[in-house]
Amino acid sequence: MIKPKIFQWIEVSSYEQMSGIAATIFIDQLLAKPDSVLGLATGGSPLGFYKELVRHHQAGEFSFARATTFNLDEYVGKGPGDATSYHEFMYRNLFRHIDLAENRRHVPNGLAPDLAKECERYERLIAESGGIDLQLLGIGVNGHIGFNEPGTPFDSRTHVVELEEATRSSNARFFDRKEDIPEKAITMGVETIMDARKIVLLAFGDNKMEAVRRLENCTVTEEFPASILRKHPHVRVIYGR
Ligand code: GLP
Repeated sequence: MIKPKIFQWIEVSSYEQMSGIAATIFIDQLLAKPDSVLGLATGGSPLGFYKELVRHHQAGEFSFARATTFNLDEYVGKGPGDATSYHEFMYRNLFRHIDLAENRRHVPNGLAPDLAKECERYERLIAESGGIDLQLLGIGVNGHIGFNEPGTPFDSRTHVVELEEATRSSNARFFDRKEDIPEKAITMGVETIMDARKIVLLAFGDNKMEAVRRLENCTVTEEFPASILRKHPHVRVIYGR
């Protein structure tokens, strides 16, 4: 049987609408398959989405108890207890509000003494869990997905990256001082992301529209990492300004 290819553009008129639609997609996934493996993202784009998920969860509409989650990335040198780590972002915005056991939620360990081993461990965990059913993505202004900056090979798996200046500047709003912004991160690779069975990409605001337009019209090139999504069998892009 040939699998139909889905590349759906969902235009929204508000950030709240984007968050609500994304939450519905994830809730439907968990209702259909309570032991789903979910890929999660951080940043400004998914904040409203997490709020919605928590609200529906607390209303008793669905449970995370049998789910497993994997986050896309984490800064090198950061981990639990550090307010600017992605571990803390996830704890604050989602994990502490839901019924997902600690051993079922995964974020790369930016404090691991051997980062290469940590990348291998993370890949192994994803594979052992059966692979990601539904992956949430944001998009960087330079087209990065996760922290896969332009030029990252499409066949990359979880790896350590040097962050681009553009990325460090966009993320400066989360730090008190510029020198606190990490220079490196661990991220799922492009191929790790492409292995997810379904993908939802969120992009909201004027500063993201150029990347969205480029995604719409692009040829597939490593210079614009998100372009690879054009080859994925099931993508929904929820976007607006
Ligand atoms: C960050 C994250 C990405 C995220 C992107 C957009 O640096 N590593 O996973 O999707 O950049 O972030 P935001 O949603 O805050 O614009």
